[in-house]
Amino acid sequence: MLESRLPEKKDQIMTTTSSAASSKDKIVIFDTTLRDGEQCPGASMTYEEKLEVAELLEDMGVDVIEAGFPIASQGDFEAVQEIARRAGDVTIAGLARAIPGDITRAAEAVRVAKRPRIHTFVSTSPIHLAHQMKKTEEQVLDIISATVAQARNLVDDVEWSAMDATRTPIDYLIRCVDAAIKAGATTINLPDTVGYAVPEEYAAMFRRIVEAVPNSDKAIFSTHCHDDLGLAVANSLAGVAGGARQIECTINGLGERAGNAALEEVVMAIRTRGDFYPYRTDVETPMLTRASKLVSAVSAFPVQYNKAIVGRNAFSHESGIHQDGMLKNAETYEIMTPESVGVKATSLVMGKHSGRHAFREKLKELGFELGDNALEDAFKRFKDLADRKKHVYDEDIEALVGDEVATANERIRVLALTVIAGTGGPAKAIISLDVDGTHVTKEVTGNGPVDATFNAIKAIVPHEAKMSLYQVHAVTEGTDAQAEVSVRLEEDGKSVTGRGADPDTMVASAKAYISAVNKIMIKRQRQHAQAVSA
Ligand code: KIV
Ligand code: ZN
Repeated sequence: MLESRLPEKKDQIMTTTSSAASSKDKIVIFDTTLRDGEQCPGASMTYEEKLEVAELLEDMGVDVIEAGFPIASQGDFEAVQEIARRAGDVTIAGLARAIPGDITRAAEAVRVAKRPRIHTFVSTSPIHLAHQMKKTEEQVLDIISATVAQARNLVDDVEWSAMDATRTPIDYLIRCVDAAIKAGATTINLPDTVGYAVPEEYAAMFRRIVEAVPNSDKAIFSTHCHDDLGLAVANSLAGVAGGARQIECTINGLGERAGNAALEEVVMAIRTRGDFYPYRTDVETPMLTRASKLVSAVSAFPVQYNKAIVGRNAFSHESGIHQDGMLKNAETYEIMTPESVGVKATSLVMGKHSGRHAFREKLKELGFELGDNALEDAFKRFKDLADRKKHVYDEDIEALVGDEVATANERIRVLALTVIAGTGGPAKAIISLDVDGTHVTKEVTGNGPVDATFNAIKAIVPHEAKMSLYQVHAVTEGTDAQAEVSVRLEEDGKSVTGRGADPDTMVASAKAYISAVNKIMIKRQRQHAQAVSA
């Protein structure tokens, strides 16, 4: 009966003592936000954003960061290499198809890491072999042996994945896993690439493979589940029950199609139901909310309000009965504390009379460490905001600092914006920009205030990029809330996302649009520099 397994006190669920923790099996958390997550349409991140996400993932205690697919582009290669160079104890993986050139490139990118890993994969299911690879089973077995051996000659830590494992006949999958382990693979990943498996079946597949492959104890088994049927987290946990000890997952469940297993859900399920699961992870769960916000902002993928763990409503209680219960005892309707995932009670911060010291302390509390100049800039912006907005909340400060980080090194800045809009005709925007130190002003009309503002920017900074996303979020509640705007621009098949925050939605929109244009300019400069040095 479920009740008999529930601990009497919530604290027993929430705190794991070190002796209890050490008796539990460690689950390796392999984060693929920067690879599987980033490769999903529209979620592309810039070089700087990837470094920022990787740094947070390492601070949060994930064990492996799959930093990208080095052969995919020069940009991917450079980001993986820089993440590898900056990494401490975290393992940095680079993805490679079962192609010698891919493997060499992945090795070049990750080799500078303290703990480098090559992750190589090949399809094993009949449908992939017949239609995509046009290879026989025997040919694929030879490819596995050769490519895993090649990778193993380059690094000691090699992960091999059987793409579409869950639609592969088990006897053939056993032969593939056997070949990969014999060739030197240290991790064997069996992905549910198309999100087709159900938990009992996925667990059974691991049990059977672990039991049938002679040297299965020489490798760690791994799950990698897509969420097409909404079963990615359940399948990952079932895979662990079947013998896997690594879970591949992404922040906010970002990833191809319906996404991957969400890291925050997997980790909190293991932690909250520690009475049931004899496993542990090393993830610092109070950092989950920050990671979710960062990934949502840089990818411009909003988090649904009722998303487990990190959704805005995940810890809010609306119905009268629930509120009544919560007031009497929080355990009536809460299985985890908001603090355990980094949600703090929304606190009213400082007003316009607060000083630098208090502001610096608040930033520290929110996890931001700024240098003196950045702190001074952020403080000025905070003062401006406090003049315009009655209540300044933690979320406002996070948006303000995020905006500050995003706008550093930009060549174009908004100096002033006036927008005239309403029922009486086309909207008009008068904008002044600082472009590389020169001030330029334009007055342009448009079909509504946003269109007029963007047309005015385009009149000053002409470009051919197409806008594929315009998204507005209120940072807090109330009509004076700051607007956080994301704008995605696409040029030459590549996309960039700009962000801007301001209590005035039009100013936030202009900042976001300009931030995206700045990123396009940085990309062009990089490509130009590469072409010149080639
Ligand atoms: O879903 C999948 O099969 C993958 C592999 C590359 C591991 O992402
Ligand atoms: Zn995948």
